[in-house]
Amino acid sequence: MSFRSEIIGCGSYLPERVVTNAELSAKIDTTDEWIFSRTGIRQRHLAADGELTSDLALKAAERALDDAGVPVAEVDLLILATTTPDNTFPATATKVQNQLGMVNGAAFDVQAVCSGFVYGLAIADNFIKSGQSKTILLIGAETFSRILDWEDRSTCVLFGDGAGAVVLRAGKGNPDANVGETGHNRGRGVLSTHLHSDGSTNDLLYVDGGPSSTQTVGHVRMVGREVFRHAVINLAAIVGEALEANGLAPEDIDWMVPHQANKRILDGTAKKLGLAEEKMVVTVDRHANTSAASIPLALDEAVRDGRIKRGNLVLMEAMGGGLTWAAGLVRW
Ligand code: UT7
Repeated sequence: MSFRSEIIGCGSYLPERVVTNAELSAKIDTTDEWIFSRTGIRQRHLAADGELTSDLALKAAERALDDAGVPVAEVDLLILATTTPDNTFPATATKVQNQLGMVNGAAFDVQAVCSGFVYGLAIADNFIKSGQSKTILLIGAETFSRILDWEDRSTCVLFGDGAGAVVLRAGKGNPDANVGETGHNRGRGVLSTHLHSDGSTNDLLYVDGGPSSTQTVGHVRMVGREVFRHAVINLAAIVGEALEANGLAPEDIDWMVPHQANKRILDGTAKKLGLAEEKMVVTVDRHANTSAASIPLALDEAVRDGRIKRGNLVLMEAMGGGLTWAAGLVRW
């Protein structure tokens, strides 16, 4: 019996504190005009003092489980995508596991920076397809504000904190409806995932610290223009790869839920694909870049407000430090 990974619930959480571009301009040499015109960002949410990645993750996870109607006792794997763990070890996933009262199975973190949620989706999908897991809680959670250099205006204005989560369950994906061109793209669930990385580009986006190198946490460093250039090329390529693998065309996509780094990157990708702007879920204006949390945050918003409906074809894509880039196609 082969399984499909069906997403049966989602949830998200944003810290209460909202910081506008105007508030940042009062502290550093920047303007709302520069930030909005270059990135589409108007504001970001920042975690309160003492509010940790695990706290954000827990709230998003509880909401996703509630939405799915799944008791935590049924979860047999917890995957947490994060670049900003509470501690170097243990995995923040194990803290969330404990706070949720999850006693079965395993929990671990995934580190692929902004691509982390889609990497987690690929791992979850493969655990379900292989029969090793039945019910998986996948979370993307970040307190990116903690690794920003607040004196570096070229990076600190770009990021925010938040968390989002989905519950995946092994299902049949409605096999009776598997009548697509390639015979497998009609039923519900994850259709395919695609992962790439290129370590030769490590120095375009990285943190200048770490336990083994400096014994400090470090701060985000980015060659923005180069990352931008790679993003447009890599994202268009991986979207093409995902569509081709499923015998689908850009017009088949109902909703694109991209990683939210920069509105100009979203517009560029949509244009390259010939995808209508209205099919793109955009949260970067209000959330800024929340790294591994940005896709599940955007997903949850679009599901909750009724845009994403059962049966819709949803495409997720992301690129982040590494560089890593990834895509996932899901029939909702
Ligand atoms: O999620 C991971 C993936 N990350 C990304 O995808 C980010 C990709 N990169 C970008 O989004 C853009 O490159 C940025 C938004 C980071 C920067 O936009 P840009 O149009 O590439 O600007 P730039 O870095 O070329 O800088 C242009 C100018 C510079 O001044 P000069 O040298 O032209 O005089 C900067 O010093 O803008 C200046 N600048 C700022 N000015 C006001 C940089 N940051 C700021 C700022 N406020 N916050």
